[in-house]
Amino acid sequence: MSNANPKAIVIGVGPDRGLGAQLCHRFAGEGLHVLVAGRTKETLDEVVANIQKAGGSAETVVCDATDEPSVRSLVERAGDDLDLAIYNVGNNTPGRIDDMDASYFENAWRICCFGGFLFGREAIHAMKQRGGGHILYTGASASMRGRPGFGAFNSSKAALRIMAMAMAKEYGPDGIHVGHVVVDGAIRGEKVMDKFPEYAEKLGEDGMINIEGIVDAFAYLYHQPRNAWSFEVDVRTSLETW
Ligand SMILES: NC(=O)c1ccc[n+]([C@@H]2O[C@H](COP(=O)([O-])OP(=O)(O)OC[C@H]3O[C@@H](n4cnc5c(N)ncnc54)[C@H](OP(=O)(O)O)[C@@H]3O)[C@@H](O)[C@H]2O)c1
Repeated sequence: MSNANPKAIVIGVGPDRGLGAQLCHRFAGEGLHVLVAGRTKETLDEVVANIQKAGGSAETVVCDATDEPSVRSLVERAGDDLDLAIYNVGNNTPGRIDDMDASYFENAWRICCFGGFLFGREAIHAMKQRGGGHILYTGASASMRGRPGFGAFNSSKAALRIMAMAMAKEYGPDGIHVGHVVVDGAIRGEKVMDKFPEYAEKLGEDGMINIEGIVDAFAYLYHQPRNAWSFEVDVRTSLETW
């Protein structure tokens, strides 16, 4: 396995103080060249500029995780050196089942589960060529539990988790470590703080999950030796009821 020029892809990158961007910062800081992928070029460019300012190496790739040709060309761009592939896409899609459009439900599944399949499949092709690698998925409370008002999101996140587990068992023998991080609660990042300030205030600093702690969980999985792999790490605050 060539590790001369290790590369990482993080798909699902938003604002700099969000989980996707902070994953990019961490792995660029560890010396990987990071392909920073998402749908909005300006946001991605800002993350890349900040990584470069800090001395790291990164590039922007505009890619919709649900579009098969785009996902294929994203992974091809990393070439033979793809060591780490992170699927962080997963917008929450609230709504009650009895008044939900079929297309809304299907779209939730496309974003949370189908995109994870496309990305994982392409990463497996690349990693089989090089003899191994790491594919990590971001989960949520929704990955583990159904809740009223969140049926579309819960079912698609849970499906992603089980697909990742199947992949872990199918490709472990090829040296491909597939992992899943359950983020069980609100993240103390730009999304919740800016878009839901009242909710953030209600939870308080201790009631939201620290981003660095989540990033540590990804790094923990990434650095595990082949003879001591975990499939899953869950992260929550001490105040979470679960
Ligand atoms: N935020 C929370 O409190 C929380 C809690 C538990 C779990 N999580 C999980 O954490 C992950 C992300 O966290 P986050 O929501 O806080 O956001 P984030 O990591 O800051 O950014 C994720 C970004 O993914 C991009 N994205 C959305 N759909 C995409 C698509 N089809 N293709 C490519 N990129 C896409 C969006 O940017 P563009 O719109 O610019 O593409 C979004 O900003 C998700 O898996 C989520 O389920 C979040």
